[in-house]
Amino acid sequence: MSDQNIMWIKKKIIFQCIRPLNQQIYIDPTEIPISKELRKTNGDLITIVLSINKTLTFFTNPPHSASHHQILKNFLINSYQLPPNSHMADTAGAVNALTTKKRSGSDDNNDDGGAFMVAKKQIKPMTMWEDDPAASLANARHEFGEHGGVNMSIEASATFTVMEPDTMRRMFSGELGPDRDFFIYSRHFNPTVLNLSRQMAALEGTEAAYCTASGMSAISSVLLQLCSSGGHVVASRTLYGGTYALLSHFMPRACNITTSFVDIKDVAAVKEAIVQGRTKVLYFEAVSNPTLTVADVPELCRVAHDKGVTVVVDNTFAPMVISPARLGADVVVHSISKYISGGADIIAGAVCGPANLVNSMMDLHQGALMLLGPTMNPKVAFELSERLPHLGMRMKEHCNRALTYAIRLKKLGLKVIYPGLDDHPDHELIKKLANKDYGFGGILCVDMETEERANRFMNFLQNYTQFGFMAVSLGYYETLMSCSGSSTSSEMNEEEKILAGISPGLIRMSIGYSGTLEQKWSQLEKALSRMQDTNLFQKY
Ligand SMILES: Cc1ncc(COP(=O)(O)O)c(C=O)c1O
Repeated sequence: MSDQNIMWIKKKIIFQCIRPLNQQIYIDPTEIPISKELRKTNGDLITIVLSINKTLTFFTNPPHSASHHQILKNFLINSYQLPPNSHMADTAGAVNALTTKKRSGSDDNNDDGGAFMVAKKQIKPMTMWEDDPAASLANARHEFGEHGGVNMSIEASATFTVMEPDTMRRMFSGELGPDRDFFIYSRHFNPTVLNLSRQMAALEGTEAAYCTASGMSAISSVLLQLCSSGGHVVASRTLYGGTYALLSHFMPRACNITTSFVDIKDVAAVKEAIVQGRTKVLYFEAVSNPTLTVADVPELCRVAHDKGVTVVVDNTFAPMVISPARLGADVVVHSISKYISGGADIIAGAVCGPANLVNSMMDLHQGALMLLGPTMNPKVAFELSERLPHLGMRMKEHCNRALTYAIRLKKLGLKVIYPGLDDHPDHELIKKLANKDYGFGGILCVDMETEERANRFMNFLQNYTQFGFMAVSLGYYETLMSCSGSSTSSEMNEEEKILAGISPGLIRMSIGYSGTLEQKWSQLEKALSRMQDTNLFQKY
């Protein structure tokens, strides 16, 4: 091995410790009595968490074999005067692990396995879910930078080198995979994207997740993975226009996958639409775009699961507020471009679900993510992972302002649609399904009845009072407004829009949190007075 290679290995083996005072310790990997050969195959980041009671939780990725585990444990116990009964755990209990397709029960180095090897042999469900998604996110393993930085490093590489030629064959055969820190090429797994994906899995309480270049690519990839030609989907008739077009136009033409659209509030109709044996997926949005209908996720899952149908839920409108996987959904998809990003500067998506689904989507021969290639850039993944920790705080403020404005606008006589209002048909349902203390969502709709009045109002709100911007999308810190019928739902024809409950004057407002609540409210009121002055709003 050349000197250069030895340096490379040393750099890669950084041991990071968090002590009770969050003090980090760097252990020179050469101090650890494992042979160079072992480091070569197993060398990687090891995170050591010393908890207050001095039990030692030892997270390694890749999982080391039982014998390496013992050597490392002894070393750490001696070096840090830890109790001999210190416990060492592998990553499986804390974060989802991913196996590659041909994971066998045998060890990389023919070691005896044991409890430490469990992650390698089977995927264990996430055990770290708490009732509050923010708590689950905080429980996810914190990734440090290569040099001990508080932020993870960006693995900005398209391709990955190996120490021995045979490793390449073993990676391609699926024997060595990302669960053990073997990466092939960044259209397949990338370490930084995988770290963000672990955060997404923690957020949604799923076993695994993987992030994509857009919400649409997450949706289309998962549908194409779950359905084959001739397959059938039952979907809500109230969906984001792009998803509606994908299901109603693109998929039948391009892949012979058809969809029956139903009113998901009518559970009997959902049941009836499922064609046993042919229907593969029940697809709906937890809170629908733009009508803000709340799906009865547990009930819909029960109906679908009874008939062997996989439930895929788009949770773009309600991250943190609703956790569909915890309510029974098999897969949760996101347009990260919205609330999760929060900056209106990134297009991204995610598929959160069982590890075997995520693995199948990365299969070198059959995987929709691997073969269609809607890959997230690791630099983007890094940016997004910095925003997830404050998603909960942002959501609370979006929701708080949306509720306040909805109540006040309703009092002024406007037709307001908001699930937090007690006259909303799904108010009791959202109270039952929502996570505690996040509110009822950050979007409200005002029905101005005609497109002309809607456009006038938005014009005043943007150009006269600076309340918000006329723009599609949502989840930005500024308020974004659009008239759904002529914008994000324009893929639907007039009849479809009526069936979906989208009135021509429906304004969807994604309520921002910039400025103060009262400052923004006065801008909203001023625009309404202007409407009144021009006789466009009589009820005020
Ligand atoms: C509910 C919903 N799902 C999916 C998407 C598509 O996401 P992206 O624009 O990130 O592809 C959108 C976009 O507006 C959306 O509103």
